Amino acid sequence: MIEQMRVGFDNFCYVVYCPLQRKAAVVDPGFDASKVLLFLERKRLMLEYIILTHYHSDHCADVRVLKKTVPSARIVASQKDGERLSLKPEVIVSDESQLSVGHVMLSFLLTPGHTPGGICIIVDEEAVLTGDTLFIGDCGRTDLLGGSLEEMFQTLQQKIKTLPDEYIVYPGHDYGEKPFDRLGNQKQSNKTLLAKSLKEFSQIP
Ligand SMILES: [Fe+2]
Repeated sequence: MIEQMRVGFDNFCYVVYCPLQRKAAVVDPGFDASKVLLFLERKRLMLEYIILTHYHSDHCADVRVLKKTVPSARIVASQKDGERLSLKPEVIVSDESQLSVGHVMLSFLLTPGHTPGGICIIVDEEAVLTGDTLFIGDCGRTDLLGGSLEEMFQTLQQKIKTLPDEYIVYPGHDYGEKPFDRLGNQKQSNKTLLAKSLKEFSQIP
């Protein structure tokens, strides 16, 4: 199960959980950790992992609060972005890494472009949590420190467009006309996925 929570101004934080085994992972707790903790308590879920799609503070500022409340929860990030976190990750993931949260299977994709070590998380081969790699209708900025237009183009072409149309895209910010969408719809409507060449991609306003 995936719970999408709007936190801070326009960020999305997610709780991915197994209701049978009562285990959970939190993805990108940038703000409002109290909301997450309330949800965990209400559903009586044990927090096993705190997963960070990338190191930007609006995605990880409340890791400390969660870690203090549930010290056994392990922080998960990629090697490259993990190095930039103030609380060091305890689990390093890369392409094809997998973690289970009860009966829910998570698999990871390295998706550089917005940051050097950004990751996307595939949940049970049904959904993909895209952080600031892909938004509904757009992709993440590449002009921030460590960003790369070329890497983002490669990521979108090779890692995102190759995923099944049926996957539901859950982005890291509420920037689109809806909070989530089928990847198939995004492949047909998202200008950053429609660009056929790096040149075309670089000319998107
Ligand atoms: Fe970001």
